[in-house]
Amino acid sequence: MTGLIEKLYQTGNLSDEELLEVIAMNDDEASALLRKYADEVRQRVYGKKVFLRGLIEISSYCKNNCLYCGIRCGNKNAQRYRLDREDIMSCCENGYELGFRTFVLQGGEDPFFTDDFLVPVISGIREKYPDCAITLSLGERSRESYKKLKNAGADRYLLRHETASPELYSKLHPAGMTLKNRIDCLYELRELGYQVGAGFMVGAPFQTLRNIVEDLRFLQELKPHMIGIGPFIPHHDTPFSAAEGGSLQLTLRLLGIIRLMFPEVLLPATTALGTIAPDGRERGLQTGCNVVMPNLSPVMVRKKYDLYDNKVSSGEEAAECRDSLEKKIISAGYFVSDERGDHISINN
Ligand code: 5AD
Repeated sequence: MTGLIEKLYQTGNLSDEELLEVIAMNDDEASALLRKYADEVRQRVYGKKVFLRGLIEISSYCKNNCLYCGIRCGNKNAQRYRLDREDIMSCCENGYELGFRTFVLQGGEDPFFTDDFLVPVISGIREKYPDCAITLSLGERSRESYKKLKNAGADRYLLRHETASPELYSKLHPAGMTLKNRIDCLYELRELGYQVGAGFMVGAPFQTLRNIVEDLRFLQELKPHMIGIGPFIPHHDTPFSAAEGGSLQLTLRLLGIIRLMFPEVLLPATTALGTIAPDGRERGLQTGCNVVMPNLSPVMVRKKYDLYDNKVSSGEEAAECRDSLEKKIISAGYFVSDERGDHISINN
């Protein structure tokens, strides 16, 4: 198995069958080697820098009914809220003071957030914080909308593809949502000049290891600037409440594989990873991750952005605990960068 890790490190690629073997491996020596190489490649490209993103969850309303997600429209128990312009601006103000230089506006697909609402918000942030990056994560929108939001000052867009398999996609989403539409959105975003993030859940219901190979192949084609992956975690008010969650080990292995296949990618140690293990985030950082996205939403609404059970939003997940997060990052062997943290080959 160490031979395959060696090959992945040297060439940045493997055949489908070889990838399957590495994804499924249960070999301590090879896992340690994967970790070592992932960290080496991450340090070669980004040094010991960790980039922070302040995550502002602007709405828990969603018109979609994805089977895995706690804020699906069919969940009548979900607590709904939306932030207004002043709320969002005060989150940014707070975040700027805490040292954040990227603001991520994330939310369910909430029809309330029209272009007419968002454009002045984005241009307001752009004007007030010219040294900050603005990232959007607001789901599928029209090309026209993506263009307006880009022109208003947005720099990046996160839209996980969720799975590259049309069959699996249709098992995780209601009829009417298609993988094709999602992929079209990702390519449009790229063409419009956004730095783009794609990604998927690890251990989603019905997902096979072959599906994960398909995800990696899709990512090789799309060449996103950012890749977000985290374990699937069941939510009690969804059709998948009794499904098994994704494993820490498999998630870490995939993070290492992704770092070797995509040396320059921005790779967050996600909240879901920090939720399934108290040291998940640090272990992610030691396996190729270079981004952490603490929660900058108003404390009052944090519990309501409830994508999955036990989602952490306090302690180091909370933006206001930046100091203790920074200490953890330092003790894991890295440091917090004060830069915007753009993709390294942004001009290519
Ligand atoms: N477990 C883990 N991740 C989830 N997401 C949504 N629901 C869950 C869940 N139950 C992820 C999806 C989505 C992102 C915002 O959160 O991948 O794209």
